[in-house]
Amino acid sequence: MMKPIPIILDGDPGHDDAIAWVLAKSSPLLDIRAVTSVCGNQTIEKTTYNALRICTLIGCRAPLGVGRPRPLVAQPIIAPTVHGKSGLDGPVLPEPAFEPCGLDAPALMEKVIEESDEPVTLVPTGPLTNVAALLLNRPDLKPRIARISLMGGGIAYGNWTPAAEFNILVDPEAAKVVFESGIPLTMAGLDVTEKALVFPEDFERVRAVGNRVAQVVADWLEFFYGFHRSLGYPGAPVHDAVAVAALIRPEILTTKDLYVAIETEGDYCKGTTVGDMYGVTGKAPNATCILDIDRKAFVDLLVEAVKQYD
Ligand code: RIB
Ligand code: CA
Repeated sequence: MMKPIPIILDGDPGHDDAIAWVLAKSSPLLDIRAVTSVCGNQTIEKTTYNALRICTLIGCRAPLGVGRPRPLVAQPIIAPTVHGKSGLDGPVLPEPAFEPCGLDAPALMEKVIEESDEPVTLVPTGPLTNVAALLLNRPDLKPRIARISLMGGGIAYGNWTPAAEFNILVDPEAAKVVFESGIPLTMAGLDVTEKALVFPEDFERVRAVGNRVAQVVADWLEFFYGFHRSLGYPGAPVHDAVAVAALIRPEILTTKDLYVAIETEGDYCKGTTVGDMYGVTGKAPNATCILDIDRKAFVDLLVEAVKQYD
């Protein structure tokens, strides 16, 4: 058995962040060293409260650091239409069994990375504010970060604007810092995450597993499915879980190494991940972009994940 990969989960739960964390905690291939909240889907207060409740539900007691209250430069954008007023509407969750550790997100990331006996992998599934703050504060720690496996962007299109995906658009300056960092990047953008679709027959398979976590995950998927059907999607795109799947089941994914630039200006294209599919820039690739997924294997992965819980 391979030694588990030390990771830090950074997210804005958010239904798909929550499912990504259920997947991460279930895997013996991953060792969650810390969890950090970021403002995105909802305010930092709400994403932090949700993060504490999720970790209580799944029995994750890694230290939790509260993220920055707003993006590096841009005005905050939240998404109550997508995830509800709480940021995680739907099933009743346990109240937090523990408090944040007292360090803010970048400081906790810094501590975990410095104390780790091997490089740490970061798994951001919200805006990249905390990760960028860490890299700006402590560029010397870059060699101690093995990889950043992120959900964000889209080479072909956006979802919050026609050109930009939500996580990148909320903090484009942060995304620029991360994509220019030189750290190995895996980008789970909309190109693949909108193929990571879950349908009612899939979340009923999850529900049939029958334990508490399975019931909650099925309810989260059902909520997410209902919202996306109202937009005309055929199913629920479980965006964030793909960034975790990339670490534990890379064989179900199709990837291409690309040079990706982040647009931080413009009325129409701010927050765009501009991917060089044909090498026309002559610039070396800075991201492994995930472009396709074996959807059935992905759903099987989610079903197997919830079976790991009591
Ligand atoms: O665009 C999808 C992303 O935005 C996901 O991470 C979702 O949780 C929201 O943060
Ligand atoms: Ca998210």
